[in-house]
Amino acid sequence: TEEMSLRPTTLRQYIGQHKVKENLQIFIKAAKMRNEPLDHVLLYGPPGLGKTTLAAIIANEMGVQFRSTSGPAIERAGDLAAILSSLEPGDVLFIDEVHRLPRTVEEVLYPAMEDFFLDIVIGTGPSARSVRIDLPPFTLVGATTRAGLLSAPLRDRFGVLSRLEFYETDDLCSIVERTAEIFQTSITKEAAFEVAKRSRGTPRIANRLLRRIRDISQVKGEKEISIETTKEALRMLQVDSLGLDHTDHKLLLGIIEQFHGGPVGLDTIAATIGEEAQTIEDVYEPYLLQIGFLQRMPRGRVVTGKAYEHFGLERHEEK
Ligand code: ADE
Repeated sequence: TEEMSLRPTTLRQYIGQHKVKENLQIFIKAAKMRNEPLDHVLLYGPPGLGKTTLAAIIANEMGVQFRSTSGPAIERAGDLAAILSSLEPGDVLFIDEVHRLPRTVEEVLYPAMEDFFLDIVIGTGPSARSVRIDLPPFTLVGATTRAGLLSAPLRDRFGVLSRLEFYETDDLCSIVERTAEIFQTSITKEAAFEVAKRSRGTPRIANRLLRRIRDISQVKGEKEISIETTKEALRMLQVDSLGLDHTDHKLLLGIIEQFHGGPVGLDTIAATIGEEAQTIEDVYEPYLLQIGFLQRMPRGRVVTGKAYEHFGLERHEEK
């Protein structure tokens, strides 16, 4: 599909995340020189920054198979045993949302990661017995939004910890231009830069916006996506000058209007605006914290003067 073909397949093609890329390049090269599987890798950071893409690139660069699952999909120890025992030596197993593995599964994973074997209990009661299953050596690539969500024993078993950061505007601009090329669409430099500036540092958002802008440009019969069409499309999509969308506005204005700008607890905000607390924390807050629109204080979230200014509002201090 087009979605899959947007994903770069080598580190060379992968734009941005310079520190993570530079480190992985070395660790992959060293593992290959020693003819060993790569150490287990934990990728963490906000959604849409390319964790799955990087995991697939690691497998490709190592020249092994890429197998993919997620924490919530592995319900029982037997599910994990089935996956692990079907791997070829050196394969990459990607577990998205690795912090959501059931505790019982997590405990089976420890010896698998450390010494490549499984201890599985078969049967119940007096006839229960434990069998040891040897596994091919493999690389676990885990992904999570925050490293702190993992239990300490699981986190300690990853040899490589890589934090993905929001992308620089220049890198996002290169991604938009690359995606446009794959779409066989021209876009002006100015328009590509505008999309990049308004994508909250996130390639997934940039690519999604570009699709919609392309639709509008195409319907207008443009040869090349123009800055005018880009701005018009972003207005239609309710994306503001900084890339904040309807939900960001609801969150910030909710705190401003109902709680005088805070501090207010996460669960209270969530209930007020009708979003899951976890979604606010993982998807919306990280960028608002990064651009200094929101602060985390001991007694809750506070909207900053900078955010008030963006909305043309004044912050009135409470007595
Ligand atoms: N498409 C989405 N993310 C990308 C990245 N980091 N590099 C290149 N193309 C991408």
